[in-house]
Amino acid sequence: MRRRKFISNVGAWSLLCASGCRLPERGRNAYAVSVLGDTHFDGTDRNVYHANYRPEVEWKRCVCEGEFLRNAEMWKNRMPRLLSSAARCRTDNTAFLLHLGDLVQGDCCDYGLHLKMLREAETACCRGFDGLDFLMVCGNHDIREMVTKDGAMAFDEWYGKPSVWVRREMDDAWIFVDSTRPDADALFAALADSDGARHTFLVSHGPVSPTDNWGYFWFLFGEKRHTETRRHLRHELTRRNAIVLAGHMHCTSLMEWKDREGTLVQFIANSVWTRDDMASAPLVADDPRCFGSLYVNRKAKDEPEEYDGAYTTRSRAEALALISEYADMRQYKRWDSAGHYRLLVSPDSVDMLFYPGDALVPSMTFALKGRGEA
Ligand SMILES: [Fe+2]
Repeated sequence: MRRRKFISNVGAWSLLCASGCRLPERGRNAYAVSVLGDTHFDGTDRNVYHANYRPEVEWKRCVCEGEFLRNAEMWKNRMPRLLSSAARCRTDNTAFLLHLGDLVQGDCCDYGLHLKMLREAETACCRGFDGLDFLMVCGNHDIREMVTKDGAMAFDEWYGKPSVWVRREMDDAWIFVDSTRPDADALFAALADSDGARHTFLVSHGPVSPTDNWGYFWFLFGEKRHTETRRHLRHELTRRNAIVLAGHMHCTSLMEWKDREGTLVQFIANSVWTRDDMASAPLVADDPRCFGSLYVNRKAKDEPEEYDGAYTTRSRAEALALISEYADMRQYKRWDSAGHYRLLVSPDSVDMLFYPGDALVPSMTFALKGRGEA
């Protein structure tokens, strides 16, 4: 079997169209999905949502205050432009608008304010989509509350979905899992119920592999006590040739693993457009051998001394062993870029189009499944 060519750049995209090979957006049993990664909706003034913010430790206050400033600046101009472009790129056969979590910043420390933040974020994201279904997964910021549980209670009231739920779209299974509070039994039951689906999509804010930075353990079933669940899930996804769509990393990234049972593809999207140059950010990783290097290189420099004590009991050696479990990947690409995306699903292929920043034409096309495979 000849492996597919996995990615095409702008030039290849033009070539694809010029050669008469159309992406199967409008064919029989085909549909499109508009996709947003993290958006971290926030006020354009820090005090709109964070007047009551109370961190429990000083270093968190420093981190969060920096994020509030980032969000305020981003939501004044860049994010409205990005969302407007995403809506303009919608086509008639777009089935739904998908958000991969961290819709909002959180950190309101007030139930009513958190609820208001979620509602206003949904309004901002859906503007221009004319009532299209808005489907999302819970991200860590969507429930983030440093002191109380108000964030989680507000999110659950607003969204009203269980930890795991399924959307059927044509013959495809779209399985949504709350990676902040994952229900393993419900997830494996959903996978079993979806056996035989044309395509299986797992939508999770946290990726299914360790994240390649100092927060390496923030992924689905990433805690040490979930080791067997994590490995079993990877097996079940691989044998279904599943496609994982995730956020959290604030980058655009593609990973692929393949074994005798099948192929697992993970695509990470990002809409946190914090700097103008993120619309044209360079490729920062282009080799599976790079996976883990950001963790290794950044840990010593950036990680606060107490970080491991606050979040995990893992040692550095354990972290490297965990990352090495995923080092058998065949593709690893990563851009520190932001934008909006469209997924094109057909019986034989799944393609992700990336629109950098507020672009109205895609700069890259990722063949997630099928295209070019002989
Ligand atoms: Fe995020």
